[in-house]
Amino acid sequence: MSVGTLITFDLLVAVLTAATWLGAGAAAAARRSGIALALFVAAAVLSVARAATAAVLAGAGWWFVQEKVTLTLPLLAVAGGVAAAVAGPRLVRAARGGRADLAGRPAVVVPLLSAGYAAVAGPVYALLLGYPATWSAGLVTVALVGAAVLLTWRIVSAPRSLPVGAARAAVAAALAAGLAGTGLAFVPVPETDAGGGPPTRHLAAGHPADGRTAGTTGTHTADEHATGTGAGSGAEHASEAHRSGGSATAEHAAGTDTTGEHAPEAHESGGSATGEPAPEVHDAGAGGVRSMTSLRGPSEPAPGGTTRRFALTARTATVTLSSGRRVAAWTFDGKVPGPPITAVEGDLVEVRLRNADVTSGVTIHWHGYDVPAGEDGVPGLTQDAVRPGQEFTYRFLANQVGTYWYHTHEVSDIGVRKGLYGMLVVTRRAGGPADQVSGSGSDPASDGETGRTRDGGAGTGGPAASTPGLDLTLPVHTFGGVTVLGDHDRAIERSAAPGTPVRLRLVNTDNTPHRFTLAGTPYRLVAVDGQDLNGPGELGRVGLRLPAGGRYDLAFTMPVARTVLLAVDDRTEGLRLSPQEGAGSAGSAGDGAGWPELDITRYGTPAGTPFGPGSRFDRRFTLVLDRGLTFSGGQPLYAHTVNGRAFPSIPTQVVRDGELIRFTVVNRSRDTHPWHLHGHRVLVLSRDGRATSGSPLWLDTFDVRPGEVWEVAFRAANPGLWMNHCHNLAHADQGMVLHLNYEDVTTPFHGAHGG
Ligand code: C2O
Ligand code: CU
Repeated sequence: MSVGTLITFDLLVAVLTAATWLGAGAAAAARRSGIALALFVAAAVLSVARAATAAVLAGAGWWFVQEKVTLTLPLLAVAGGVAAAVAGPRLVRAARGGRADLAGRPAVVVPLLSAGYAAVAGPVYALLLGYPATWSAGLVTVALVGAAVLLTWRIVSAPRSLPVGAARAAVAAALAAGLAGTGLAFVPVPETDAGGGPPTRHLAAGHPADGRTAGTTGTHTADEHATGTGAGSGAEHASEAHRSGGSATAEHAAGTDTTGEHAPEAHESGGSATGEPAPEVHDAGAGGVRSMTSLRGPSEPAPGGTTRRFALTARTATVTLSSGRRVAAWTFDGKVPGPPITAVEGDLVEVRLRNADVTSGVTIHWHGYDVPAGEDGVPGLTQDAVRPGQEFTYRFLANQVGTYWYHTHEVSDIGVRKGLYGMLVVTRRAGGPADQVSGSGSDPASDGETGRTRDGGAGTGGPAASTPGLDLTLPVHTFGGVTVLGDHDRAIERSAAPGTPVRLRLVNTDNTPHRFTLAGTPYRLVAVDGQDLNGPGELGRVGLRLPAGGRYDLAFTMPVARTVLLAVDDRTEGLRLSPQEGAGSAGSAGDGAGWPELDITRYGTPAGTPFGPGSRFDRRFTLVLDRGLTFSGGQPLYAHTVNGRAFPSIPTQVVRDGELIRFTVVNRSRDTHPWHLHGHRVLVLSRDGRATSGSPLWLDTFDVRPGEVWEVAFRAANPGLWMNHCHNLAHADQGMVLHLNYEDVTTPFHGAHGG
């Protein structure tokens, strides 16, 4: 049984335990001694089963059982033990001797019901509070159970059957516990979390320099290659190297690129299977404090690149899907998805965003693209939301090759769902001048249907963009319950000559994962989240589970006499690619339903990485994801929580430029949480304690399923204030958001919100 299933099973057993104890008490009170005895036995067995499931769960990690071991199971053990000792023998006598009146006595009813109250605390605590168990919540729980027991005693017992002194003492104890617990709830929590590293000085927005000089730590580990130290001394370097996308740290590529296929200037391209984003050189500026407004992109492309200008206008529009179905949408340029942004590595991408009439405001966040913080498009943190009539211009170097996407970050749950998203695809520079892709807002190379088709840039993970081929970007989105690829709510029909290299760029713009199957040809999963995989093997008859926000690039050569069928969720035909127009059938969407799911942590071939599980980390953070009752802004909310809290009261993670950071992300809940840190790609170290055994896996969105524990690591080499959140944007909206701040960065913007 998976840990996720066990979590649900445990909850079920906990509810049954409570129901049987309470049922036994009620049956006893009703003098149904036979039923009461049967329920009592069931309750005892279930209580032991709870302990057993907790023991198994503990094997997956302390986070999964902490509140059970420290609070709810001991409570149940005490109450259940008393019930067994006091009520048990009497109940047996009553049932055996046919003395129903015996069963109704307080000495039977009260202990059974008390065990019931204690048992209720188990699932209620797990559902409402979860991890971590606190003294505050623990005391309140004990007080509530105690109060319920006393009240029951009072009601069931004859007047004056209780010694007055004992009764008063019990009431006083319950009251004291309740008050103490309530009081503790008001003890403020720290606003920041240093992750076990050296203390940082956290500079809240609007409180600039305190006079000290910002320093980077210089605590780099020996197990890294040379350029790791580049970031450590970054503050001393000249600022002109900032975000040059080019030459400053060319030796980095040589150190990590096992393929050796691309030129040194590609070191930040993201194309290397092992490519850690190069540590960059930053100017801390006078006083050692940087404002968000200074962390902007360059104004010139890298040598050899060009400037690509796009203009996007956010506006409400009615969009017509391929079937003729009309959808009321929020759009960029009246289209869903928005116009594709394409570039060749080294280009400068300049996007002028205007808002026509999206009243809640709009921004553009470059999902998975590690742009300078000031270009990240987070309202209230990196900029103000763009209101109707306003505009904002983004500039960044296209220094990561691969498949990315962009979306609004203002009320993003609604905005993205309604259509404020588009594709961002950067292709490798083929040695010569830039590919002749138009740099205007409308892309003439686009087929107007599925994103874009180019004559170049296909390849199968190779270095050059010179191979002619078919390159399709296929964003999946759900409009009103209908699965749509691009703007197609019916299968996309295309043809490609046999032998054509084909690249399919799958992008999940929804809040939940989608399963893709590709039938009719062997293929390779050549890139994940824009990063090429190392040595991806040939695949067939597998399901690909694409997390919310994630991207998979599939590559194959068009087969001779077969149609290739891409299906979504085993029910929707996404793409039919035939060798010639009107070619034969290719089966149906459901054909791959039984295919096993590919485990990307074991796919491909291992290769060197700049750090790994054995590295010495400067800071470690643990994020336990759960659901719970919170009070945000004075309003009670059944929130999606991190370490028991919801935005904005989750402590901000504070790091320093150049540090190596490790995250442990634990999912205690029964929902899947696609975790997404802005501004950094993370290297997956392990999942559920098992190290990755395939290609190095650099992700920007990793899907933490119920019961899973992921260990990931990244180099803090992109100074800023960053969102760190669940990419199920509905979860983010309900609290599952925190910030990761570089200690010396401030922002003049206010009111960062959860969406
Ligand atoms: Cu694609 Cu903060 O998100
Ligand atoms: Cu989530």
